[in-house]
Amino acid sequence: MKKRVFSGTRATGRLHLGNYLGAVKGYIALQNNPEYECVYMAVDVHTITTPFDHQTLRGATREIIVDYLAAGLDSEKAIITKQSLVPEHTELAFIFSSVLSIARMQHLPTFKDKVRQHPDNVTLALLNYPALMAADILVYKAEKVPCGIDQEPHLEITREVARKMNELYGTDFPQVTRFVTESASVPSLLGEGKMSKSVEGSSIGLTDDLATIKKRLAGAPTDSGKGEKVPTEGGVANLLKFVELFEGVHRRKEYEAQYVGSGIRYGDLKQELAEAIDKELMPIREKRKELEGNPEYVDRVIKEGAEKARVIAGATVKEVKEKMGLG
Ligand code: TYM
Repeated sequence: MKKRVFSGTRATGRLHLGNYLGAVKGYIALQNNPEYECVYMAVDVHTITTPFDHQTLRGATREIIVDYLAAGLDSEKAIITKQSLVPEHTELAFIFSSVLSIARMQHLPTFKDKVRQHPDNVTLALLNYPALMAADILVYKAEKVPCGIDQEPHLEITREVARKMNELYGTDFPQVTRFVTESASVPSLLGEGKMSKSVEGSSIGLTDDLATIKKRLAGAPTDSGKGEKVPTEGGVANLLKFVELFEGVHRRKEYEAQYVGSGIRYGDLKQELAEAIDKELMPIREKRKELEGNPEYVDRVIKEGAEKARVIAGATVKEVKEKMGLG
């Protein structure tokens, strides 16, 4: 039997370069490997764990799927759909919440971050976020998850849930591992933290055009361009990371030599980097335009993906319920 892969993206806005480099490139690498059966979703049920707009959620979820397809996910090679069409995820999440303690959930750094961001919306759904994520993965008995390093605490919970369920009820859930891409943590353009949808000015969108990419890079903080030591954190360090990701390590080394020598002209660096990013994103933008003209195709991918996913997910939930004396 093929090994399974699961990953997902919350429907909180269009994909950015962090999602693309940290996760979606990994999705594509695994879908193209015939050893794996891959399931990729826009995880819209996770989106309701923080404040959201019910009038735009359906559209935002669809945008994630269109971005997935534009970036190169292929419904012939992977199951692509949205989480809310596969109710087995939420059913298994409730079951998993019976083996997770409230204290363990409250101590997760991801939970604490969200409490800081939305102090008036600390709901049971938010506390249960990791149980739902464990269910997303284990309902397919997936062994590999292509995702950024920020998801590691949730994968640890997933491994704990698998062990507990196997011990208590004799299930055979695997121990999941993260599939690492070339960049597990894409930095923010602002010089601090990671690129994120929720931090204004921190990101470049997957389908931004050259003018927008330039504008975004223009906002990235720099320094005088020369010094005794190349900075290892902050705006300049992050720009050099982007140079490495889009123009290669050799170009980065050249800039580093300039920094400790004649000096970097950031205007030129940003111009060249913008063009390199634009070149990589151009085919994605073109594919996206094509998809926008073919909404029936996108609908079909989502519907057929959900049907295929439910066959696998339904079998797991049935097995778990039988072993637990339910149903
Ligand atoms: P989300 O929606 O925040 O992000 C989607 C994916 O993008 C990765 N990512 C990054 N990687 C590198 N650098 C960055 N700056 C960066 N920003 C985002 C994330 O690691 C993620 O892989 N909890 C998940 C969604 C989820 C999920 C799952 C993921 C729900 N169920 C099951 C994997 C498996 C989340 O909030 O990702």
